[in-house]
Amino acid sequence: MAKIISLVNQKGGVGKTTSAINLATYLAAAGKFVLLVDLDPQGNASSGLGLNVREIEKSLYHAMIIGEHPSKIIIKTETFGHDLLPASQDLAGAGIELVHLDNREFRLYNVLREIRTNYDYIIIDSPPSLGLLTINGLVASDEIIIPVQTEYFALEGLSQLLSTIELVRENLQPQLKIMGALLTMYDKRNRLARQVVKEIQDHFPGHVFDSVVPRSIRLAEAPGFGKSILGFDAFSKGARAYKNLAREIIELDKGGNRKFSV
Ligand SMILES: Nc1ncnc2c1ncn2[C@@H]1O[C@H](COP(=O)(O)OP(=O)(O)OP(=O)(O)O)[C@@H](O)[C@H]1O
Ligand SMILES: [Mg+2]
Repeated sequence: MAKIISLVNQKGGVGKTTSAINLATYLAAAGKFVLLVDLDPQGNASSGLGLNVREIEKSLYHAMIIGEHPSKIIIKTETFGHDLLPASQDLAGAGIELVHLDNREFRLYNVLREIRTNYDYIIIDSPPSLGLLTINGLVASDEIIIPVQTEYFALEGLSQLLSTIELVRENLQPQLKIMGALLTMYDKRNRLARQVVKEIQDHFPGHVFDSVVPRSIRLAEAPGFGKSILGFDAFSKGARAYKNLAREIIELDKGGNRKFSV
């Protein structure tokens, strides 16, 4: 039965999609069966893996809104064991259509229930908002990863995110846990970045991943080639970071502890 993990932060451009693609890839490379769910109407996780989002006929929209079986929509990626439930532009309307539907917060949960036993991990890439799509992602999840860009305004908006998570826990998904904050775009030469790391550790005591994602141009280039960093440049520092993150998550699931080595 898959563990379902959402990458969430309503702040745009913090590395949710980059982390979702590459975490899913490295979990698969470690021998796990992984489904990446593109819950963002921008479709960046789908296009970043080489799909032309404009040409996609069936997407998560058809599963969540029309009720089609997800196995008819899921496609394989070039990494063995890594599948994708793609987004399309239709999903932009779903946020509004959902308002009028029954079980509107549970639509994604119900979709994933159909296929959950086929995977070890299901990774959900959320849009940069706290609207109904993201809420569907939270309700469907067991755990949350919060990517945080190591820059000055990193903590802005986090209290709103944490209170949304708390509301979901109280009303919709009591088991929902925060797995951790993931530091992204870290530049160790920058003193400010080091200070922000300290602030984030104070904000999430014991819940910051040891694996830190450095700022790396190779990570930013890979989606333009429709590839994960494993397929694009497996020996880059960004690749190493996501490989470590996948390993850290697998260890945490076995009951391991964080070292706090940042
Ligand atoms: N570690 C990194 N180093 C350098 N560039 C990065 C890194 N991670 C992400 N980027 C780049 O920063 C931009 C934003 O990243 P990404 O799309 O992953 O963020 P996001 O949180 O998913 O954004 P959105 O909120 O729009 O969905 C992209 O151009 C991406 O290629
Ligand atoms: Mg994104």
